[in-house]
Amino acid sequence: MSMNLVTLLYLVASVCFIQALKGLSHPTTSIRGNIFGMTGMAIAVLTTVALIHGQARSLNVDFGTGLAWVLAAVVVGGGLGAFMANKVEMTKMPELVAFMHSMIGLAAVFIGVAAVAEPWAFGITAAPVAALIGAQTPDGAVILDGFVRYAIPAGNRLELFLGAAIGAITFSGSVIAFGKLSGKYKFRLFQGAPVQFSGQHMLNLVLGLLTVALGLVFVFTESWPAFFAMLALAFVMGVLIIIPIGGADMPVVVSMLNSYSGWAAAGIGFSLNNAMLIVAGSLVGSSGAILSYIMCKAMNRSFFNVILGGFGGEAATTGGAAKEQRPVKTGSADDAAFVLGNAETVVIVPGYGLAVARAQHAVKELAAKLTEKGITVKYAIHPVAGRMPGHMNVLLAEAEVPYDQVFEMEDINGEFGQADVAIILGANDVVNPAAHTKGSPIYGMPILEAYKAKTVIVNKRSMAAGYAGLDNELFYMDKTMMVFGDAKKVVEDMGKAIE
Ligand code: TAP
Repeated sequence: MSMNLVTLLYLVASVCFIQALKGLSHPTTSIRGNIFGMTGMAIAVLTTVALIHGQARSLNVDFGTGLAWVLAAVVVGGGLGAFMANKVEMTKMPELVAFMHSMIGLAAVFIGVAAVAEPWAFGITAAPVAALIGAQTPDGAVILDGFVRYAIPAGNRLELFLGAAIGAITFSGSVIAFGKLSGKYKFRLFQGAPVQFSGQHMLNLVLGLLTVALGLVFVFTESWPAFFAMLALAFVMGVLIIIPIGGADMPVVVSMLNSYSGWAAAGIGFSLNNAMLIVAGSLVGSSGAILSYIMCKAMNRSFFNVILGGFGGEAATTGGAAKEQRPVKTGSADDAAFVLGNAETVVIVPGYGLAVARAQHAVKELAAKLTEKGITVKYAIHPVAGRMPGHMNVLLAEAEVPYDQVFEMEDINGEFGQADVAIILGANDVVNPAAHTKGSPIYGMPILEAYKAKTVIVNKRSMAAGYAGLDNELFYMDKTMMVFGDAKKVVEDMGKAIE
């Protein structure tokens, strides 16, 4: 295959990836976005295989064995990915994403190591350097320290250092993020609570500087020991960067690691002179960085605040109990159904609890019954409701909730004042009016202004706090009715009562 055709196909794949990102930004276009993504990836993989085939032929080396390895990797990796993506629950999605990033990071490390060990096989050669040293073998290798070695140009050494270092940080950081998100493992570093010790930031700084110094030694001298020592430090740094961050901030961290994995791929792409890796890596790198920024903004946290850690510890991740025992108005599912049945406008606020209870289908049924009675139903989506961006949109789309009933925070907030009922299902922080109170840890976080509705119905299982570990004044308001119980059961009971 000619290089022009390869470039053209890579360009087509890049356009597909950009269309995929665009499509995935809205539920109505997300299927189209996925199809673009899959098409782009298929074109990229097939073109790369054809490219390697051409290179193998021109170098007169065996292509069949290499192709068999590539196909085996595609079948094993693709099969495993499809199995896991199919099996994963929506609430466990950030863990799956963390796992995927760890694999991308490791792939970048493996490619970096392989390219350093055998640059000739990757098309990275430095004839002028070899010629200078004077002991060049016919295939471009040089004899150094008694070993046959292939000299790598300094520019490529820099790219390999950056790609492999970022890959190593991404790998070990993602493994820790995975452990913290799953909350299943007893190992201290995998606990949701931040792991902090004095001098931690100084240690990170020193290790960071050492990693850069060793990387530069590799860039200037092509020293293998420096490269491997640098890699070892980068693995340790990945762990140290993530452990002080609490479980509550992990989704932001996963998005940040997503960005790192993209930059690692782009770095390796420069070394391998592969335009596709550079473009795809840059798209992932920049979209991950933008997403981290959007998430921090919606949680009213500064990015540095998240990265330096310490927020979202045990109490937050386990939903610590509210500190005071204050009276609240409670009601049954039947009472709530009565209120809903007499309303003209109802706004539903879904939250993490709805996702845990898998109550999205029950909610859709309830909404359909209300709509049949002539009641206007709208859904209000907070940008960080749930545990990952778009969590609620995906859940509602899965239950086939009509898109024209689903509204983003900016579009619906002005309507709460006219709504007869706001019904909050398994949400807490995203409707907490404490966000308007100076001094509150969530002060300034944009919230859904459900407290402005004429009547507020809140469904959760107890008075326990939400993710931020804070009490919620909304629950104690005169117009609020608390309906305790599992969201799915409560919503189903409401639906039956409405009938
Ligand atoms: P939360 O504040 O975590 O509140 C969810 C509530 O659901 C809990 O108070 C819990 O109370 C209730 N619940 C749990 N299981 C339930 C069940 N089976 N049935 C009924 N209720 C149940 O969730 P939210 O309001 O969606 O806010 C999201 C939080 O996550 C925010 O603090 C946000 O900053 C954080 N966060 C989000 C993201 C993204 S991108 N979405 C990223 C990082 C952090 P009970 O235990 O009493 O039932």
